[in-house]
Amino acid sequence: MPILEVEGLSKYFGGLAALNDVNLSIQEGEIRGIIGPNGAGKTTLFNVISGVYRPSSGQIRYQGKTRIDGLSSSRIAGMGVVRTFQRTALYHHFSVLKNVIVARHLHAKENIFRVISGLAKKTEEKNTEKALEIVEFMGLGHLKEELAENLPHGHQRALGVAIAIACEPKVLLLDEPLTGMTPTEKDRMIDLIRKVHQQGITILMVEHDMRSVMELCGYISVLDFGMLLVEGPPAEIQNNEMVINAYLGTEDILSASTSA
Ligand SMILES: Nc1ncnc2c1ncn2[C@@H]1O[C@H](COP(=O)(O)OP(=O)(O)O)[C@@H](O)[C@H]1O
Ligand SMILES: [Mg+2]
Repeated sequence: MPILEVEGLSKYFGGLAALNDVNLSIQEGEIRGIIGPNGAGKTTLFNVISGVYRPSSGQIRYQGKTRIDGLSSSRIAGMGVVRTFQRTALYHHFSVLKNVIVARHLHAKENIFRVISGLAKKTEEKNTEKALEIVEFMGLGHLKEELAENLPHGHQRALGVAIAIACEPKVLLLDEPLTGMTPTEKDRMIDLIRKVHQQGITILMVEHDMRSVMELCGYISVLDFGMLLVEGPPAEIQNNEMVINAYLGTEDILSASTSA
């Protein structure tokens, strides 16, 4: 049974169809790659699935029959569909651990001021333990007291994923998790994504780094001009003429796909 089904999904900005009648069926436990040239609608797809935007039309069904299209992002996150953002840390002047603790409290809909001021001591202790577990799981244990703003880029992105994990997702949407990373940081993030996936979390990943997409994803959906161009396993997508043509003239894919 698919964990997430997108049917006839469209999103218009003025006259522009950022998404045009997109259908997707995501199986539980897969790592799905979403690729396509800049402006293809990938981020919009994530924004609509995660409730940042309302779709103009279409349906999004979660775990069978539950419609999540049009619900608020906090409702959707509460149900287990969580996205990461480019801006990673919730609070740049908080420690790594505190960021994850706050994310857990926010997720649990507690009074954030009580949490920050330490008034909700008991709940905080309970959550700190779980937050610490997540921080360590994400390879940030040695940096737990470091301020988020002082982390190197790769670790900031890992914290972004830790914050998303704090919301106990069943489906995790990663928008360009490898962007701006050094090769070492990329390798580390790829390992983390695999580890998260091994926890049973279904992953949807938008990424331009084709080599990593091909390596991580079992199945790939290609968007172009807001439309689903083609879908298939990595080996098929890599050699698909429509995909290669869709990317012609864009800067990032050809070198990546030939070196893959
Ligand atoms: N909030 C918005 N308002 C107006 N246009 C938008 C908005 N968000 C995205 N778009 C437009 O929708 C199209 C798809 O954008 P986006 O989803 O960001 O593409 P991608 O992530 O694939 O690069 C682009 O033409 C973009 O300019
Ligand atoms: Mg984008």
